[in-house]
Amino acid sequence: MSQKLPSKPQMLTLDITDRCQMQCQTCSKWQVSADVRHKELSTEQWKEVLRELRQWLGNGFWICFSGGEPFLRPDIFELTDYATSLGFKVSSMSNGFSIEQMVDNIIDSKFESLNISLNSIIDKNIHDTSRGREGSAQKIFDVIWQIMHNKKGRNDNLSINLATIMFPDNLDEIIPLVEYATKNHLKHIMFQLIEDFNSFHAYAEKDGLDTDNYKIPQEYKKTIQSMAEKAIPIIDHLVEMKRAGHSIANSYEQLEAYKIFFNNPEDIVTAIKCDVGSTNFAVDPYGDVRLCFNMKPIGSILEKSPEELWNSVEASQCRHKVHTCKMCCRLINCNFKANFTNFNKSFLVRLKNKIIKLLTKKL
Ligand SMILES: C[S@@+](CC[C@H](N)C(=O)[O-])C[C@H]1O[C@@H](n2cnc3c(N)ncnc32)[C@H](O)[C@@H]1O
Ligand code: SF4
Ligand code: SF4
Repeated sequence: MSQKLPSKPQMLTLDITDRCQMQCQTCSKWQVSADVRHKELSTEQWKEVLRELRQWLGNGFWICFSGGEPFLRPDIFELTDYATSLGFKVSSMSNGFSIEQMVDNIIDSKFESLNISLNSIIDKNIHDTSRGREGSAQKIFDVIWQIMHNKKGRNDNLSINLATIMFPDNLDEIIPLVEYATKNHLKHIMFQLIEDFNSFHAYAEKDGLDTDNYKIPQEYKKTIQSMAEKAIPIIDHLVEMKRAGHSIANSYEQLEAYKIFFNNPEDIVTAIKCDVGSTNFAVDPYGDVRLCFNMKPIGSILEKSPEELWNSVEASQCRHKVHTCKMCCRLINCNFKANFTNFNKSFLVRLKNKIIKLLTKKL
């Protein structure tokens, strides 16, 4: 395994807090104790991190502020403004629950992209139940309406995107969500297949999973299998809609990978190479840096420069673990967003041949 390491990552994420006001069924970050606030990096420490990252990465690099819920930090706009003043392009991710009072700040900030998580549109209860907070879908519709109607002439560059988990209860909502995004001139909608609940945890609660000995939990496998029959035609429909010009951010290859996963979850490990080791650089709320969000940190940004961390022994050990990892979260968007280059084409060809063989046997 002597692949040349890129000198810089492609995806930069600052998870500025673990805290969250929702009670999602798919993610346990909200269960973190409120006390962790005192351990989070201060505004000045984040600014120092931003300066170091800028020095290493240069001008025009995309940076995503996420969490937890990043808008729970009172200094969110101070940090995003500072990042843009240094030359970063800034995006953020939000559950949309508490941002209605911040619409003016969002429009007048130099944000380029705000991703709002929304899981249903026709039956709002599906979204609300998945997030554990009544009224949360309606708040999102109101916020999107306000931003889209008020940003003209003030921040035309600001794009609003949807991030939607695909899970058993919202399959009938997937196509209407795409139609809503197109009708309301959102920049895109990005789907994320429901991932094993264990992967979405507060950094303060878990230092890393045992990725070496991972076996797909039976319950998660059952969830995926229960979705397969209905989900596969929906994915085919998404592919058609994408071809017809609807702005679906997932690549065709990623959508194809979802189908492989539905057909047999175990196949995904040979079909998709996980690339997070050479693409991702994520700083957690306490300054620890990870290449893979499920693995132990490679060190603290308070002790070493980002470039030193990227080239450290710990990073190369982590990359080795990524290379042999058997987990399925390789399907998530942080492994696909920048460019889908990790699809194992020979696997596809083998799969196609297998299907042709089966079909000719039947005839
Ligand atoms: C961890 S959240 C952080 C940002 C913000 N709190 C939010 O919900 O948008 C990032 C994204 O992960 C998604 N997510 C949460 N649990 C998930 C799961 N088990 N599988 C796939 N995506 C999940 C959320 O819906 C959200 O779009
Ligand atoms: S998915 Fe986002 S909103 Fe839901 S608990 Fe996790 S961090 Fe909070
Ligand atoms: S599949 Fe990739 S992202 Fe998931 S645990 Fe393994 S290395 Fe990390």
